[in-house]
Amino acid sequence: MNILSPSILSADFTRLGEQIHALDEAGAQYMHIDVMDGLFVPSISYGMPVIKSIRKITAKVFDVHLMIDRPERYIREFADCGADVITFHIEATDKAGEIITEIHQRGMKAGIAIKPGTPVETLSPYMEEADMFLVMTVEPGFGGQAYIEACTEKIRAVRKMVRESGKKIDIQADGGINRSNLESVLAAGANVIVAGSAVFHGNIKDNTAGFLEVISKFNEN
Ligand code: DX5
Ligand code: ZN
Repeated sequence: MNILSPSILSADFTRLGEQIHALDEAGAQYMHIDVMDGLFVPSISYGMPVIKSIRKITAKVFDVHLMIDRPERYIREFADCGADVITFHIEATDKAGEIITEIHQRGMKAGIAIKPGTPVETLSPYMEEADMFLVMTVEPGFGGQAYIEACTEKIRAVRKMVRESGKKIDIQADGGINRSNLESVLAAGANVIVAGSAVFHGNIKDNTAGFLEVISKFNEN
């Protein structure tokens, strides 16, 4: 299934509850929650207290993108505050297998993310266990950056790997996606689309509806 996962990193935090209601009404399936630790990436965003708090106002799937060093330290905490999908960076840990096992034991889906410079082959040992692969299309750390064109080829390569494996693994693309490049990202094989600034800048409902219209036209694979 093709899915839109708006990133609340671009929300107006003085009106977060209101903006989440707008997303709910507009029908985006997931909500992308970027957690940054100032170590794995230069910036610091938000963590458990914010997630726990917004969990009370929406039933949307919480798609938590951990941009943190050694994510194995925090899987339980993110499970407890209401994550449904946890994606961690393969560059941030040497315990990927154990992390996926723990995420599954806690009843969530597990995603593995790669930065633009990380080869797609890094994902191949996890074809059996992973539920999602996240191909970063900007350097992780900030919203509002420009899409890195070279990453489209990586999405295509990951889609090929997944198709050849016969597994049902979602492919998420994250960073710099807007209405102009959305179709090429979908055509390359991504089926979970993250968008931050392109959803939150301007009218959230209209932007979401615009994304969903294009996304629903594309079928998975
Ligand atoms: C970047 C984050 C992205 C970001 C996307 O490190 O992982 O999820 O919020 O925002 P846009 O769509 O504005 O690039
Ligand atoms: Zn993200």
